[in-house]
Amino acid sequence: MKRITKAVFPAAGMGTRFLPATKANPKEMLPIVDKPLIQYAAEEAVAAGITDLIFIIGRTKRAIADHFDKAYELEVELETKGKLKALEDLRGMLPVNVNYIYIRQAEALGLGHAVLCAQPAVNDEPFAVLLADDLIEGEPGVTKQMCDLYNYYQCSLVGVQNVAPDETSAYGIVAAEPMAERLSRITQIVEKPAPEAAPSTLGVVGRYVLTPRIFHHLRHIERGAGGELQLTDAIAALLKEQQVLAYEFTGKRYDCGSKLGYLEATVEYALKHPEVSDEFQAYLEKRFCVPCRSA
Ligand code: G1P
Repeated sequence: MKRITKAVFPAAGMGTRFLPATKANPKEMLPIVDKPLIQYAAEEAVAAGITDLIFIIGRTKRAIADHFDKAYELEVELETKGKLKALEDLRGMLPVNVNYIYIRQAEALGLGHAVLCAQPAVNDEPFAVLLADDLIEGEPGVTKQMCDLYNYYQCSLVGVQNVAPDETSAYGIVAAEPMAERLSRITQIVEKPAPEAAPSTLGVVGRYVLTPRIFHHLRHIERGAGGELQLTDAIAALLKEQQVLAYEFTGKRYDCGSKLGYLEATVEYALKHPEVSDEFQAYLEKRFCVPCRSA
């Protein structure tokens, strides 16, 4: 039985909703309090036992690779200035025994194309995909939940949650038959359908575990919604020959690809952050004249 040891992080999108912040930086480098989104995703993958982190990077390629590199000059400077706590945090940031692999997606042709770019590093193995702009607080993390399910069911899985009926056109939407608690068999999957065409309100969020057969379909799909090569369309083709399960994960998801979701995540994570939570809470209470407590 193959365990999942590889995770793909598509990070070559244009980030248009966050311009100008994303003009020279990928949106995955936007911080929630003090940690970039891509690091939350990498930590979630590592906590699931993943050892090969495969980043698909684009135009603003350097920031992510630099972020995960050892920063010698910075370490020396922190040491010289006696900032030992910061030094310790910096050193502890990178999990050990993990391989960082960077693949360039020369053209932003869509999420399906980004995942296809990972094939040389994934080869013939099942793998996870994490979209870092979907920040999910979960214990254990959603990738761990899904890898455990893969170990049991040995088939592809897609993370889903119910979305508002008028928001289906922002998501991949599945139709599925219930199978076990939180699990159902996908019978149909459509990328960004209008509410009247949506088969349900079960929306795909950015966590997937896929069998390597997906690469065959990614090579054969045509441009879909938004003129892009869509991962959803390859999953629709995969469904015809393999079981694919929808998993209603446990955890709270923040859509950090939108300004509102990003701000919500910032407030919630700040209210839990050991360094600023008390003062931030006091600030909110003073500012809004209501008691604020983190959930
Ligand atoms: C992508 C996928 C979509 C999924 C969404 C989750 O869309 O194509 O199926 O529902 O991520 O965040 P994007 O948000 O990149 O347009």
